[in-house]
Amino acid sequence: MDHRGIEKLIGDLTLKEKVGQLTMLSGELVQTGPASAPVTSAAIQNGEVGSLLNLVGSERVRDAQRHAVEGSRLGIPLFFSLDVLYGLRTMFPIPLGESSAFDPALWEATARVAAEECAVEGIDLTFAPMIDIARDPRWGRTLEGPGEDPLVGQRVAGAKVRGYQTADLASPTAIAATAKHFAGYGAVLAGREYASVDMSERLLHEVYLPPFKAAIEAGVACLMPAFVDLNGTPMSIHVPLLRGLVRERWGFDGVIVSDWSSIAELLLHGVAAKPEAAALALNAGVDIDMMGKGAYVEGLPEALDRGLVTMATIDEAVRRVLLLKLKLGLFHDPYRRCGSPEAAAATARPARRALAREAARKSIVLLTNTEDTLPLDQSLKSIAIIGPFGDIVGGNSEPPPVERVANLVDRIRAAFPKATISVAAGSNVEQPKEGGLAAALQNAEQSDVTLLCLGERVDMAGEASSRAYPGLPHAQQELAQAILDTGKPVIVLLFSGRPLIVPDWLAAGAKAILALWHPGSEGEGAIADVLSGAHNPSGRLSMSWPADVGQIPIFFAERPTGRPRLENEHFSSKYLDIPNEPRFAFGHGLSYTRFLLTNPRATKSTIAAGETTEILIDVKNTGVMAGEHTVFLFIRDLASSISRPLLELEDFTKVMLGPGETRTVRFALSSDQLRFLGPDLEPLLEPGTFEILVGPSANPAQLQILEVQVRPSSR
Ligand code: BGC
Repeated sequence: MDHRGIEKLIGDLTLKEKVGQLTMLSGELVQTGPASAPVTSAAIQNGEVGSLLNLVGSERVRDAQRHAVEGSRLGIPLFFSLDVLYGLRTMFPIPLGESSAFDPALWEATARVAAEECAVEGIDLTFAPMIDIARDPRWGRTLEGPGEDPLVGQRVAGAKVRGYQTADLASPTAIAATAKHFAGYGAVLAGREYASVDMSERLLHEVYLPPFKAAIEAGVACLMPAFVDLNGTPMSIHVPLLRGLVRERWGFDGVIVSDWSSIAELLLHGVAAKPEAAALALNAGVDIDMMGKGAYVEGLPEALDRGLVTMATIDEAVRRVLLLKLKLGLFHDPYRRCGSPEAAAATARPARRALAREAARKSIVLLTNTEDTLPLDQSLKSIAIIGPFGDIVGGNSEPPPVERVANLVDRIRAAFPKATISVAAGSNVEQPKEGGLAAALQNAEQSDVTLLCLGERVDMAGEASSRAYPGLPHAQQELAQAILDTGKPVIVLLFSGRPLIVPDWLAAGAKAILALWHPGSEGEGAIADVLSGAHNPSGRLSMSWPADVGQIPIFFAERPTGRPRLENEHFSSKYLDIPNEPRFAFGHGLSYTRFLLTNPRATKSTIAAGETTEILIDVKNTGVMAGEHTVFLFIRDLASSISRPLLELEDFTKVMLGPGETRTVRFALSSDQLRFLGPDLEPLLEPGTFEILVGPSANPAQLQILEVQVRPSSR
């Protein structure tokens, strides 16, 4: 099969079969949307479906594929798709956690393993990466994404697409990636799932779109519009963005797949009923209708009859779907991704496990560490593990069955062989546990240290899991207060799918707090590594952690106000009752060693359009333990025709330093990075002074500042 063969096929297909190619139905082995009936073999044989989601496993996939290849009139293979955001068998930390590693090579490596595991179980395409910028931790889908910053989103997008797809989509270990959810979904009203989105064109173009552009530049095969409307236009029919920007301006010729029933849901958006909805979506460039409730199946033939769509537009969509199948190598061998997972896993398991351990270690963020309480002393005689997450395994509970090694208690026991370990939940996750508190208190009182394991279950974040109060449920707060009241040292281990509000009393009362996210298959081992000091934590927050729910949305790249907060000035930008600052800033994350940054400098302090300077800074490990430091490079355009954010992230890098070691970190900074979107949203370089701010987080107090001038261009 080649391009000419595809054209011939298009000519041979009936309208019904064409619409079938544009239809994606569920195998229903995995549930990721409202319940529905699983696809039937008759539907496959009749050519009523072109791709499936949520069916996994070589035998099942082989069986379904056989109906398409041997049982349907033209024998066109199906492709099989699944949400695999942080692993299939080997689970990695949730994406928000993994983004805290600030490590593109790691992001790519974990996507590669996920792809290999998918590809041997019949999966051709994943609905990942999710690259929605999120600045509101109430929104549960913060779990799935890269956090608050567009540059991080772009780097995640590129790394993940390369990891899933490799350079050759036809490779039997490559799978197609999907950039989702295009675009602005992270800004749903008040953080409430599926609510509408209203945002300025500027915010959209500066913050929410760049990760998608990066995914397309990396060659992503597929794009998924978000469920939501953007400024009144549902994304599934957004002609200016889908056709105008994505297809025409960015040149994306891959497949656009709707989100689950989103074309049918245009009715509930109050925009269009079936035939009109189908026409609007197809004309906007949406090729595949996922779980469409008949939107394309019934809507497109009627729309064609009524002249709302043309056969040429239908063919265009069918062509893109068939070309994807061609690129995936499915015409050549429709069973190419149906392997023997057991055999493949057995050989690859040790390396995958090691990668999961590394990813979990690098994602853990040490939020506080009073009096250098961590790492824990090996001479401890007793450790109490308390809290509803004390006996968790992996923290993730996603189907299909995930491989596990050991639970947290076993890992702690192995890391501290001299200590007696006691375990008591003390509380359930959301409700008190009858009689639980007394046992927990007794354990805490009798132990040298308590590991207080708190947070939210993995299903308390993710899709359809907004929380109005993104903090610890009341029952866990009561438990924490009681344990702190014992006066014994308490280390808080926080599991979450989002930034959590850490109350003042907990931040002040705990000796140390670790953000663990949901750390995946090797999470427990990684936690033990960090507690014992076998691993020196290096994770950094990719999303600001609010001090209070009233600060939300909160992010570092705010634009300046004409009345910045002044302590003694009433008429300044502040709250009367809480601070402006987040509890933990973007980039925050401690280490068991200390780093000193000195001598920030630029190789050229003045540049013109087209030129690049280098920003250098010396980083010294002043402690006694080896450690990895993350250095961020921000800019601030001091005077521009449009007010620019107080900080804009331009680069980040990591440096590993032995005790006493110094290294110079170098960043290239080009005039292109100093451009911003002008009044017409086109990139614009304005001469003038730019502050370059270098340091370990977006906390202004920690940043070192130098200046670079942009010379007026001679033309
Ligand atoms: C989600 C998508 C997902 C799809 C298929 C939808 O509910 O919004 O992110 O890819 O289901 O599972």
